[in-house]
Amino acid sequence: MTSARAIAHPNIALAKYWGKQNGPGNYPAVPSLSVTLDGLATTTKVTLDDSLAKDIATINGQEVVGEPKERIVTLLGLVRAKLSATGETPAFCCVESTNDFPTSSGLASSASGFAALTIAADGAYGTQLPTDVLSDLARRISASSARSFYSDFVVLASGPEAPTGNELLAARPFAERASLPLEVLVAVTTEGAKEVKSTGGMNQTRDKSPVYDAWKNEAPRIFADVKAAIETKSFERLGEAAERSALLMHATMIAGGLVYWNAGTMEAMHTVRKLRAKGTAAYFTIDAGPHVKVLVEPENVRAVKAALESTPSVLRVLRATLGDGARLVS
Ligand code: DP6
Repeated sequence: MTSARAIAHPNIALAKYWGKQNGPGNYPAVPSLSVTLDGLATTTKVTLDDSLAKDIATINGQEVVGEPKERIVTLLGLVRAKLSATGETPAFCCVESTNDFPTSSGLASSASGFAALTIAADGAYGTQLPTDVLSDLARRISASSARSFYSDFVVLASGPEAPTGNELLAARPFAERASLPLEVLVAVTTEGAKEVKSTGGMNQTRDKSPVYDAWKNEAPRIFADVKAAIETKSFERLGEAAERSALLMHATMIAGGLVYWNAGTMEAMHTVRKLRAKGTAAYFTIDAGPHVKVLVEPENVRAVKAALESTPSVLRVLRATLGDGARLVS
């Protein structure tokens, strides 16, 4: 039996992606810029098995069923479609994935999960596709996962306005970690999975939020500001732009009736703002879940971590530095 194992890290967007272009192919409506994290990881093993009548998948030992399983099978189908025609039908496979952090709760487990799955499937099926093609395939299932193929600061452009579905859109590396040293502290505010997945949440926002167009117009400007902050090596400018991106994205969701926050989210945001008022440069960002990710310069990690840990509804605090892109490990 042929197998391959890959590791991938989640990424956290500083300039957020929220919303899709109309048409096929899961193309983002706005550009995004992320950091790939070290310290949190998904490891995925794909084993081809001629005796299987369908693909099977587990995450942390639990069988995956329903819509999450369909997304995995769709991705595997995209990789298998790249096999040169030999006349033989490729074998189905067994996917075993483990996350060392909460799954499906706004900690970007789908980003690391689909990046690791794509690399492991490419290894097991022997397709040997270039990284940009793998990033494009994964983007079709989970757009943020396209960014986890690359290290450090990574960009994903918006897609064409009327995509046919055939356009290649991969993420690309933007800058190395040394250009602007920072760490990310994750204030975990629940151990549970989120109730509304990103794709459904984006559709709800498009259909119900009266300020969705304002978000789509403003997001490219915030993206440009985040890029300029990295280029000019300004941590404060980066943090302010990242906070603006997260707040505008959540304001847009909330206006459409979608609230991902819990009490701990609000408390952690206030902790960060109080630290800043007292002169510590710390900035928050929040994804499609209730956890608060805090951007901090290395010298302030200890103080900011302690402040988050003493915030009553924060359950625990994870620490991550900037990390490497997804890769095969065996
Ligand atoms: C809030 O990549 O999970 O984390 O493409 O529908 O799978 P789909 O969405 P997904 O959305 C991530 C949204 C976000 C912001 C971001 O990572 O840019």
